[in-house]
Amino acid sequence: MSTIQRIDRILSNMGYGTRKEVKKLISSGLVEIDGIIVKDSGQKAAVDSQEIKVGGKRVFYRDFIYIMMNKPKGVISSTEDRFNRTVIDLLSDEFKTFSPFPVGRLDKDTEGLLLLTNDGQLSHRLLSPQKHVPKTYMAKIAGRVSERDVEAFGRGIILEDGYKTMSSELEVLERGSISLVEVTIYEGKFHQVKRMFQAVGKEVVYLKRISMGELKLDEALEPGEYRELNEEEREILP
Ligand code: URA
Repeated sequence: MSTIQRIDRILSNMGYGTRKEVKKLISSGLVEIDGIIVKDSGQKAAVDSQEIKVGGKRVFYRDFIYIMMNKPKGVISSTEDRFNRTVIDLLSDEFKTFSPFPVGRLDKDTEGLLLLTNDGQLSHRLLSPQKHVPKTYMAKIAGRVSERDVEAFGRGIILEDGYKTMSSELEVLERGSISLVEVTIYEGKFHQVKRMFQAVGKEVVYLKRISMGELKLDEALEPGEYRELNEEEREILP
């Protein structure tokens, strides 16, 4: 979107209502640009440099929004669900006005890095099966993960439906009755990590995504917390 636009267009694009509803806000004297009440709904404003307020509250303008969330357990990675809380329900209204959606899915009981955006092209670049964007997970596995498992993951695992996964990297960080591992996969089949372990006779008891492409989960984010990507992070996106 160009930076200089009619104020009624800016506000209706931002979710403040239809052009007609926005005109009403303006005629009620609720809209300000740089501290001056707007009288004409055709007045232009520069969204990137002028301060626009509605009812005294600053309008938070972006063309695209990129949010990193540490998804908690128990919420669904979709925009709507009739029975469960979704990752969108966790966002503030300010962020919801951009209609973000999650880039890919994590299972209800999986935690960790989830990118939310309204940039469909970016989402396509990250999820396209041809792109093989790596996704790394930290997992706790019931039982001892062996060197044979590591080799099997490297060769590709035949899942229960006969599909052979691409080669993946499995690193064992702690071996014991519960093993701690990091696994990097290059595709995104349904329940892929859990099914890969199931195929070698093991169960994932905890799963957390820690990176997607170059983007790493900010460990300062507690489960359920989120923030916008910083400039550096936006630049490393494909
Ligand atoms: N693999 C899984 O099994 N679950 C996820 O949520 C992500 C990858």
